[in-house]
Amino acid sequence: MNASAHSHWPYGVHPFPHRHLTGIAGLKAHEITFLLDEAEHWVAINRAQTKHDNRLASLTQINAFFENSTRTLLSFEIAGKRLGADVVNMMVAQSSVKKGETLIDTAVTLNAMRADVIVIRHDASGAVGLIADKVDCPVLNAGDGRHEHPTQALLDALTIRRRKGGIAGLKVAICGDVLHSRVARSNIICLGTLGAEVRVVAPPTLVPPAIDRMGVACFTDLDAGLEGADVVMMLRLQRERMAGGFVPSEREYHAFWGLTHERLARAQPDALVMHPGPMNRGVEITSAVADDIDRSAITEQVEVGVAVRMACLDVLTRARRGVEGWA
Ligand code: NCD
Repeated sequence: MNASAHSHWPYGVHPFPHRHLTGIAGLKAHEITFLLDEAEHWVAINRAQTKHDNRLASLTQINAFFENSTRTLLSFEIAGKRLGADVVNMMVAQSSVKKGETLIDTAVTLNAMRADVIVIRHDASGAVGLIADKVDCPVLNAGDGRHEHPTQALLDALTIRRRKGGIAGLKVAICGDVLHSRVARSNIICLGTLGAEVRVVAPPTLVPPAIDRMGVACFTDLDAGLEGADVVMMLRLQRERMAGGFVPSEREYHAFWGLTHERLARAQPDALVMHPGPMNRGVEITSAVADDIDRSAITEQVEVGVAVRMACLDVLTRARRGVEGWA
């Protein structure tokens, strides 16, 4: 995976002509595929004993997380460290944001410290784009409000591609709290761009208002929505983003919307089960399904997540590092 490998690229400029990764919207199919191909290389490296590659040595990566995270933060931290970057985590609970600093002032501060790449998670939709406009280095969106979570969609696409051999033509059912989910939004755009037939399956109260404009079919009955699906992606009930009573109770939600083996039988016999985590076992998915090694790809999603983030960090810093053909 060196710069010369791209010398036959047919599109004129280099294969990923974007300064930031704020969303999947706006990316072309070949650009998404390029990132997935790059990530494939890191999956192999991450399985080896020696996982280090120093291409980001002397670069400073700041992970600015204004919202809680376990796997995404850890994954970006591990990715940066395996590439040799100096990784710094800024957690909101310990930052001046709690003291009333504006988002723009925080951005200017991070910029003044001469970060070389900034990874941001924020609870406001659009916040990451706003910061990206104010700083001199590449910005990666690690989830902003209900807007986008591009690296999650990329790792989901890579997981599907590895397990199914391709994405085009697959029937993908994204089920549960679609309304509050940036994962759903990024996946709808990503998998749709790659040619999958995406459907959303959600209670009427959790369907985003203009969902038909996103080019997906919509089901408000889980059994009907699972029929014939090749991939079943379950979503967490995002209680923290709900102001009122979107669902009656978790018990009732599970009765109608929880994925059990019995329900899964409506999907294709080899349907893949996915979940971005964190899971609420016994609510949107039973432990029996989540832990079924023949069906569930949930731990593989986490594994390839590190590889996808390594690919994104590498690609987005190429111009800055003066990599031939990218500067
Ligand atoms: C998701 C998120 O934060 O958007 N988690 C993740 O990044 N793996 C989904 C969720 O919180 O339910």
